[in-house]
Amino acid sequence: MEIRVEDTADWPAAHAIHKAAFQRTSEAELVRRMRDDGDLILSLTAHADRPAGHVAFSRLVLRDNLTLAGCALAPLAVIPELQGQGIGSALVREGLERLAEDGYDLVVVLGEPDYYRRFGFTPALASRLKTPYDGPYLQALALSEKGKQAHGPVSYARAFAELK
Ligand SMILES: CC(C)(COP(=O)(O)OP(=O)(O)OC[C@H]1O[C@@H](n2cnc3c(N)ncnc32)[C@H](O)[C@@H]1OP(=O)(O)O)[C@@H](O)C(=O)NCCC(=O)NCCS
Repeated sequence: MEIRVEDTADWPAAHAIHKAAFQRTSEAELVRRMRDDGDLILSLTAHADRPAGHVAFSRLVLRDNLTLAGCALAPLAVIPELQGQGIGSALVREGLERLAEDGYDLVVVLGEPDYYRRFGFTPALASRLKTPYDGPYLQALALSEKGKQAHGPVSYARAFAELK
């Protein structure tokens, strides 16, 4: 299995992966819109014997601390036939490593705590933020000391507001 930064040739496969995993087009369209808007920070694809998984990280603005570099992890998907084999975890770990190297301070995700806690995400850190997704499924991970101080209102990429 190979994980690499998506290029234009991967766009149709990324769309198909999200559509297959979520059994609807909303998440695939979210990726497309964020790409069109220039809001994607990092987008990774996993290739096994075929395109197998995709994850997107998009810009997140912490309005009370504009020097804090934040991003949102969403969406993450692995094709149904290859789920449960570590591909989703490998995508998240690779993404977090790259973001830390690039100087990002904070990653926020909305998802199952049972899944995301293995990467270090916690609802406690996220509870200090004010987002449209506040609640037990919102989790955050600090990638730096600065990230641990994150608080206050955040703005997601505008495509999230159009998510159906
Ligand atoms: C969620 C998803 C990306 C995980 O990818 P994956 O390659 O199947 O996951 P991994 O093989 O890395 O990890 C498997 C582990 O995740 C757990 N897991 C998978 N989906 C889960 C979920 N929705 N909630 C909680 N745990 C979950 C499995 O039980 C397994 O746990 P274990 O390691 O303790 O046995 C994938 O199942 C998927 O695409 N699901 C449909 C789309 C989706 O719900 N995306 C998540 C958006 S937040």
